Amino acid sequence: MRIDVVTIFPSFFDVLEVSLLGRARDRGLLEVRVHDLRDWAHDRHRTVDDTPYGGGAGMVMKPEPWGAALDAIAADAGERPTFIFPSPAGELFTQATARELSTASRLVFGCGRYEGIDERVFAHAATLGDVRLMSLGDYVLNGGEVATMAMIEAIGRLIPGVVGNPASLVEESHEDGLLEYPSYTKPAQWRGHEVPPVLLSGNHGAIAAWRRDQQLERTRARRPDLLSDPSDSTGT
Ligand code: ADE
Repeated sequence: MRIDVVTIFPSFFDVLEVSLLGRARDRGLLEVRVHDLRDWAHDRHRTVDDTPYGGGAGMVMKPEPWGAALDAIAADAGERPTFIFPSPAGELFTQATARELSTASRLVFGCGRYEGIDERVFAHAATLGDVRLMSLGDYVLNGGEVATMAMIEAIGRLIPGVVGNPASLVEESHEDGLLEYPSYTKPAQWRGHEVPPVLLSGNHGAIAAWRRDQQLERTRARRPDLLSDPSDSTGT
C-alpha cells in the first residue's frame, strides 16, 4: 500500500519510522510519503489560510495550495486514490472502516488545520478519486495530524504481513463487535491478585466460554451502545 500525507507539519510524522509500521515500511509492505502543503503555496509567505467568507472566528485553509497538492499526488499515482480528510464533521472511523481501507492500494490523507479546509477542495478531490471525511470520535482535535496517525496505524497493522501473528488480530476488541476479554500472564499469584482459575484448567471449551462471557459483561458495562446497535452480529 502507498500512503501520501499532506500537512503543514511534516515532522509530526517522523514517528512512523519507528515500531511496527517502520518495519512494515522497511519490508516494502507500506510506503508512506509525507508532503508539506506549503510547497504548493507560492506567495512570499507561503500562505495556506485566509479569513472565512461570511465572517466568523478563525481561519480557513485556502483551496489553491490544496488543489495543486492533490493534483500532483494524484498524477503521480497511476490509479485513482482514496482521499481521507480527518474532520470532526466526518463519518465515524471504526475497525470496520480500517479493515475496508486496508485493502486499498493508494490512500491520500489531507490534514486540515484552523477552522477547516475550503469546502470546494473536497469537490475537486472527488474528480480525482474517492473522498471520505473521517472523524475519530465526538471530540475536537487541533488538526488532522493526530487523527491521521491513528488511522494509519489502525489501517497499516491490518495489511497482511505487517503483524507477525495474524491470529492476534482476530481476537481483539471490535473485531467481533465486542470488547476484548481480559488477559493474564505469569505469575499465577501477584500482590494478592489471582489469575482466574479457569485459565489454568487446560479445559479449552471452558476457557472459550469464560472469555465470551467476559466479553459480553465488559461490553455491557463499558460500551452498551455496541450491544444496542441493531446491525451488530453478536445475536444479543
Ligand atoms: N480533526 C479535528 N478533530 C477531529 C476528530 N475528532 N476526528 C478526526 N479529525 C479531527
